[in-house]
Amino acid sequence: MVLGAQWGDEGKGKATDLLATTKGEGAIDFVVRTSGGHNAGHTIVVDGEKFATHLLPSGVLTPGCTSVIGNGVVVSPEALFREVDALAARGVDVEERLVVSANAHVIASYHSTIDKVTERFLGNNKIGTTGRGIGPAYADKVNRLGIRVADLFDEGILLKKVEGALDLRNQLLAKVYNRRAVEVEAVVEDLLSYADRLRPMVADTSLLLNTALDEDRTVLFEGAQATMLDVDHGTYPFVTSSNAVAGGVCTGAGVGPTRIDRVIGVIKAYTTRVGSGPFPTELFDADGEKLWKVGGEVGVSTGRDRRCGWYDAVVARYATRVNGLTDLFLTKLDVLSSWERVPVCVAYDVDGVRHDEMPMTQTEFHHAKPIYEYLDGWWEDLSECRSFDDLPPNARAYVTSLEEMSGTKIWGVGVGPGREQTLVVHG
Ligand code: GDP
Ligand code: IMO
Ligand code: MG
Repeated sequence: MVLGAQWGDEGKGKATDLLATTKGEGAIDFVVRTSGGHNAGHTIVVDGEKFATHLLPSGVLTPGCTSVIGNGVVVSPEALFREVDALAARGVDVEERLVVSANAHVIASYHSTIDKVTERFLGNNKIGTTGRGIGPAYADKVNRLGIRVADLFDEGILLKKVEGALDLRNQLLAKVYNRRAVEVEAVVEDLLSYADRLRPMVADTSLLLNTALDEDRTVLFEGAQATMLDVDHGTYPFVTSSNAVAGGVCTGAGVGPTRIDRVIGVIKAYTTRVGSGPFPTELFDADGEKLWKVGGEVGVSTGRDRRCGWYDAVVARYATRVNGLTDLFLTKLDVLSSWERVPVCVAYDVDGVRHDEMPMTQTEFHHAKPIYEYLDGWWEDLSECRSFDDLPPNARAYVTSLEEMSGTKIWGVGVGPGREQTLVVHG
């Protein structure tokens, strides 16, 4: 598995693409998304050409690899085909190599409407969602009012389910939010319009993946969002609505934990966050501005500026613990060139008490002030480095210190967005 260890946008797309391609063509058979939806934005840079995947697994860019959208994902058919068509227009044909779980839940137009009006209603307390309908679709799933991909192939069932969902949702839209009610027929007609194109891609993906594993084939699970955005283990309520941690991969794919060999956490050499919520190492000064500018910290999905701050080893240790990480992949080390000293958060001060581990309560985390250690910086441009030994001594020491503080070995370091801009530390 490849998972986000911070608040998202760590470089999971690059790490997934790297693993899928460096083992040689055909070595990774499946790349699987298991949670979230088109709220994700994963960047892959191949020979200087930039691609972004949202709902599609990043394996779509690896020849010979089958991409799977697991049961834990929420699927907007409109977003799915928009993405497939956009890639086809750039010469990447994915439709033949894409499999979608029959049990994945569907995002319909009313889910994004509700997402947006809820955010407006919350005002200053808003989550800062991507507005893609993710939360309302997962809420319907848990409320047992959801529509699943397989429902699109049975018009009678689909009509009943949309009626059931809108019975409730229309009350909310009309009576609480003062919006026009959504028409059942229009929703059914819209969803049915995707059915024929979707049908050949749909399968029992748990059976597919477990059979593949029985045959010794290699499966790579590509996490979306991240540990601190996980609905159970993140900074609730400022989180997404799914389990982005390792456990969510098993439920979201229908693959048991005993079949997983490696759990790789992707982590930036500093920290970023999009949307609202606590962020202890956030910077509001020239250093934050510099990280934002040099790191190009603008969201791939929504175009929003990312909030920036220093590396947080408490978050790294927490991610190691709740995911059972076996490795870290440290990205964007190149962005940290040209600081005299680089602060790294090693613990929090919470109302005068030192916390070496993640505080237990939301209130404590909101009060957490970083306790920094200062590591020596470097001035050299790292983007041309190709091995760990090419790094200047202070950059090497930074990586080694982060490894010690975080409690997990770092297998690789990113020094630029390209596939080749990767240094192997522990292979
Ligand atoms: P994801 O959502 O975790 O896949 O990450 P995003 O694609 O949203 O954001 C990561 C950004 O950092 C993208 O623009 C990547 O191209 C870029 N990136 C990834 N690794 C590196 C790296 O090592 N150095 C630099 N400078 N950029 C990187
Ligand atoms: P990737 O996979 C960064 C954030 C949103 C918001 C919160 C809830 O590219 O790392 P949602 O629309 O999911 O209900 O929004 O979660 N968020 C992300 N932030 N990267 C992502 O994905 C994100 N997906 C959701 O900004 O704060
Ligand atoms: Mg992203």
